Amino acid sequence: MALIEARHLSKVFGPSPKKALALVRGGMSKDELLAKTKNVLALDDVSIAVERGETFVVMGLSGSGKSTLIRHLNRLIDPTEGEIVIDGVDVLGLSIRELERFRRGKTAMVFQRFGLLPHRTVIDNVAYGLEVQGVRKAKRRATAAEWVRTVGLAGYEDRYPSELSGGMQQRVGLARALSTDAEILLMDEAFSALDPLIRSQMQDQLMELQARLRKTIVFITHDLDEALRLGDRIAILKDGRLVQVGTPAEILLNPADAYVRAFVKDVNRARVLTVDAVMKPPPLRLTDETLEQALAAMQRRGAEIGYVVNDRGYRGIVTREAVNAAIASHTAPTVESLAVDAPSIDAGSSIAEALPATLSSEYPVAVIGADGALAGILSADRVGEVLTPPAEIKEAAE
Ligand SMILES: Nc1ncnc2c1ncn2[C@@H]1O[C@H](COP(=O)(O)OP(=O)(O)OP(=O)(O)O)[C@@H](O)[C@H]1O
Ligand SMILES: [Mg+2]
Repeated sequence: MALIEARHLSKVFGPSPKKALALVRGGMSKDELLAKTKNVLALDDVSIAVERGETFVVMGLSGSGKSTLIRHLNRLIDPTEGEIVIDGVDVLGLSIRELERFRRGKTAMVFQRFGLLPHRTVIDNVAYGLEVQGVRKAKRRATAAEWVRTVGLAGYEDRYPSELSGGMQQRVGLARALSTDAEILLMDEAFSALDPLIRSQMQDQLMELQARLRKTIVFITHDLDEALRLGDRIAILKDGRLVQVGTPAEILLNPADAYVRAFVKDVNRARVLTVDAVMKPPPLRLTDETLEQALAAMQRRGAEIGYVVNDRGYRGIVTREAVNAAIASHTAPTVESLAVDAPSIDAGSSIAEALPATLSSEYPVAVIGADGALAGILSADRVGEVLTPPAEIKEAAE
């Protein structure tokens, strides 16, 4: 079961939320609702499910409801309608005391403006989350010191936030959130106030930590590059509505509508898309067939080549011509011995990295998975297809 679930979440800010929601259900738009009733529709029937260990990015333009959504997850905001279930617990059903315990133990938040206590040193800021949890002083100093080191701030323990750069301050914020050992990290535009270079360093650090810690992260951003880098999946909000949820590749390759298309149109697709997201299954895999069987299979599939694999993985390609010649010569070698080296690429590499091999190879290039086995193939045609933004495909078709 998903760790975090929001079900049919709707939120109206204003004098008469329930009534306003009824008007929305009757077809009234967000703008009309505001003009006529002074109610703001912030979320409109949003359902999401975030899996354990997932980095789930929420993006959308300013005012689309991102902060409202994330604040529902630790119930800083109560919905007008809908449910929030975290780890099987109905968060709206918690008493005030239970809610306090849930917030401190299960979730940690990292804020855009760092949210540090100015009169506390770095280490005391990091220890603060533990203090709130009621951890003893010696223990919390030790744990905090460890996290200060982990985020690369060793030596700065006794400095004050004002003595640190923005990036360093946000590292303190991150260390504070991580030190509480909360399973869920809620990050609302956590890196948006940072300079581009520092920002990308923070993204690297978060990904490094996440590879090790496997937290469940809900990360809000309005920066698509950041979303594509960090997100296992990305949810796109527009005017309080969920427009699309998908992996970065799904969002890039199949944007749900013009709003999403506008977001993705300037993305460097070759850098963002990975080979495994766009490869095709191998048309013909050959293992220990006889030459005659291999030839028959090639004829049946209309395949000029086969991809030879054995239990150690991918061995190379064999051409129909070579199989024919071997049969004619009556030398009866194995299919494997006819395999010739051909370029291969790793499933995890970007299209940009795979480009040279793909373009220089006569045949679709073998894609090798992390286990060394043949995972798929990638042709130059397919690369061309995925590098063309969908808008252009559509225009060309019109
Ligand atoms: N406390 C509030 N009272 C009234 N309206 C609010 C409140 N909080 C948010 N809103 C409205 O709800 C809508 C969604 O706001 P929200 O802050 O969730 O957007 P956002 O996507 O986080 O935007 P940003 O990128 O600017 O942070 C907006 O129209 C906003 O004006
Ligand atoms: Mg916001």
